[in-house]
Amino acid sequence: MTTTTPDTTPTTTPATTPATTPAGNEADLRTTAARLPRHLLSAADLDRDAAIEVLDTAERIDQAIAGREVRKLPTLRGRTVVNLFFEDSTRTRISFEVAAKRLSADVINFSAKGSSVSKGESLKDTALTLQAMGADAVVCRHSASGAPHRLAGWVSGSVVNAGDGTHEHPTQALLDAFTLRRHLVGRDRSAGAGLDGRHVVIVGDVLHSRVARSNVLLLSTLGTSVTLVAPPTLLPVGVESWPCGISYHLDAALAGADAVMMLRVQRERMDGAFFPTVREYTRGYGLDLRRRSLIADDGIVMHPGPMNRGVEIAPAVADGDGSVITEQVANGVTVRMAVLYLLLSGSDGGAA
Ligand code: NCD
Repeated sequence: MTTTTPDTTPTTTPATTPATTPAGNEADLRTTAARLPRHLLSAADLDRDAAIEVLDTAERIDQAIAGREVRKLPTLRGRTVVNLFFEDSTRTRISFEVAAKRLSADVINFSAKGSSVSKGESLKDTALTLQAMGADAVVCRHSASGAPHRLAGWVSGSVVNAGDGTHEHPTQALLDAFTLRRHLVGRDRSAGAGLDGRHVVIVGDVLHSRVARSNVLLLSTLGTSVTLVAPPTLLPVGVESWPCGISYHLDAALAGADAVMMLRVQRERMDGAFFPTVREYTRGYGLDLRRRSLIADDGIVMHPGPMNRGVEIAPAVADGDGSVITEQVANGVTVRMAVLYLLLSGSDGGAA
């Protein structure tokens, strides 16, 4: 597919070039000299400048695409992005695929479901195959915490962690921060801004959630105070050392919060009884209309999806005022475009 905007040669454009070229060119999208590391494995890989650079770049990509008849940029033409998913996923896999395609990259979807890949050796063989095919970026989801980290040691391209076990999901945290910034700071005033002085409450199955961990890390980097609310059985060992507060009382924690982020009860990861009954869980930790009214008047309701409607979130809340759940999905594409762009546009082509 072609567009009316001329292509650029990424390696010849310094990151610091001012934004003087037509919309869609590389110099337009990069706002500062802040650099991403080669891989995005953890939200902790991003310092404040790098995190804000991702969010600002996503805003600029959104603007660049909004003015186009063809919703596509030529930026990553000739680059190959491999989606390597060893675990079920709908929105994250599709989101990365759409993001890479909107940047004109070639996308290979490698779904490893059903194969025996839990052993290091097998993952290594897969990595070497991708390497031989010339993958510039590998987007990896795996049920084993640390798998993308291992992969990063075997391929010469960039690895993006799209969710590893109960460990991390950095692009989810970035899309959540982007969504929060749009609502709490405002699109027009967001350039260069963090989320300083805000308060976000994250509720539910923290124990099994990579979303919670990545959000706590990224939001604290951006200046937000986070409170985790969960039954004691659904908090991980060592959570006291995370940069956040902890509470067991949802009503009290919600008072005046700028946002509440509900986590899915991950029954597929539960090998024992973590709470007496689902009804009791919902009574203690579910978000209904009464509890939703406790957050700030302009506060927002978030959920990474997929939702257990009627368990952690009432349908009337999920579909009601201040719910930004479908916006999170839309923003996910833009933010993943920014991540792929920043990782790949400054490199010399990744794998040979
Ligand atoms: C999350 C995940 O897979 O970690 N979902 C997502 O990426 N949209 C959260 C979950 O599965 O509950």
